Amino acid sequence: MSFAAAVNGSRLLRSLAEFAAIGATPAGGVNRQALSPEDRAARRLLAERAQARGFSIFQDEAANLFVRRRGNHDGLPAVLIGSHLDSQPTGGRFDGALGTLSAFEVLEAIEDAGIATVRPIEVVAFTNEEGCRYAPGCMGSMAFAGLHAINEWNAAAAPDGTHLAQDLADTLAALPEAMIRPERPEVFAFIELHIEQGPVLEREGVPIGVVTAVQGTKWLEVTLTGEAAHAGTTPREFRKDAMAAAAEAIAALQATVMVVDPQARLTVGRLSLEPGSINVIPRRVTFTIDIRHPERMLLADLEEQVRTTCAMAAERWRCSLEIASRLDMAPGVFEPVLTAAIETACQTQGVAYRRMTSGAFHDALFVNRIAPSAMIFVPCRGGISHNEAEFVAADDIVQGAATLLDVTLDLANRNPTLRVMT
Ligand code: GLV
Ligand code: MN
Ligand code: MN
Repeated sequence: MSFAAAVNGSRLLRSLAEFAAIGATPAGGVNRQALSPEDRAARRLLAERAQARGFSIFQDEAANLFVRRRGNHDGLPAVLIGSHLDSQPTGGRFDGALGTLSAFEVLEAIEDAGIATVRPIEVVAFTNEEGCRYAPGCMGSMAFAGLHAINEWNAAAAPDGTHLAQDLADTLAALPEAMIRPERPEVFAFIELHIEQGPVLEREGVPIGVVTAVQGTKWLEVTLTGEAAHAGTTPREFRKDAMAAAAEAIAALQATVMVVDPQARLTVGRLSLEPGSINVIPRRVTFTIDIRHPERMLLADLEEQVRTTCAMAAERWRCSLEIASRLDMAPGVFEPVLTAAIETACQTQGVAYRRMTSGAFHDALFVNRIAPSAMIFVPCRGGISHNEAEFVAADDIVQGAATLLDVTLDLANRNPTLRVMT
């Protein structure tokens, strides 16, 4: 049986528009980076909405925000649904917000329909999924999964010089009505709805992606240090040109990595150089490398290739080289019992779906370490994401929420434990 009709599509679309106004950019996107005033405003709005509906709200030490609707057996582990509310600096309106607000719509729809569930249901907005203001990404879900204590990143610095410890304390204090739960409650299952952020679903005209796995990601920060010198007087053999070395390394990697292996991904997304004067040979260049692969061993090989290539370029230009690891996420496989539950919901609703691997990382990758997890994808226009032009059609939004609703109700009324894999 499907409860899809219980989703209030216009309420969900209004809600997405309202959150998109928080940190709205002139080009139609959002800048609501983690733990910024805009992020805090979004968290406050969600908390107020939740309290207005009589749901309880909680935070944890990582400032992950939870909205809870009681179950008939409220002591049973909850079904967790949600995503994140933070964005890229020039982010879209749906990355993260869609999953969080659809999850909240599911809670409201169940409440409106007066449906009692066996288990409690919690909506979560994880802290700092994007990792652009403070690296790494998925801090909140990594802390939730117990992989790191959030204060391990206390010294992480935002580009404006603020430290994570301060921003985190201010963010927690900004929602005093949300009690800080000292212990992580047991989770029965976690389902994250998200936009695909790639072109597959739209190209194939399939409204629902059932995500079976997430590829691995590594972030490296490369620093090449040479010597500043006069641009006009210094012959090539005297130069210790950090920029020339960086350009050589980046060009060599771009010419090989994705050409040799079409499954591999390599991106240099940030680069800065010193002293940054038109007629001075750059003394220092720092750049980031984001590499991804579905196979753990091949991702490790890619890192090795990056390190060797940078070392060769550094040597050629007589620069010193430092490479720091900023994030290391192994690929993950989601719980088959949950992907089957999503497929059953799609079949019951008569909606087409396809299985797929996620090219982006997500909080579900980490929750999956402590509780069975899976993801639902919906198409986005042109596959465009991490871009202010990100767009999801209203029908796809409502369909995603309807699938999430049916899966949530199915799980919230299940009794036995779910975990069948290790
Ligand atoms: C998530 O934002 C990612 O970069 O995959
Ligand atoms: Mn996201
Ligand atoms: Mn993102």
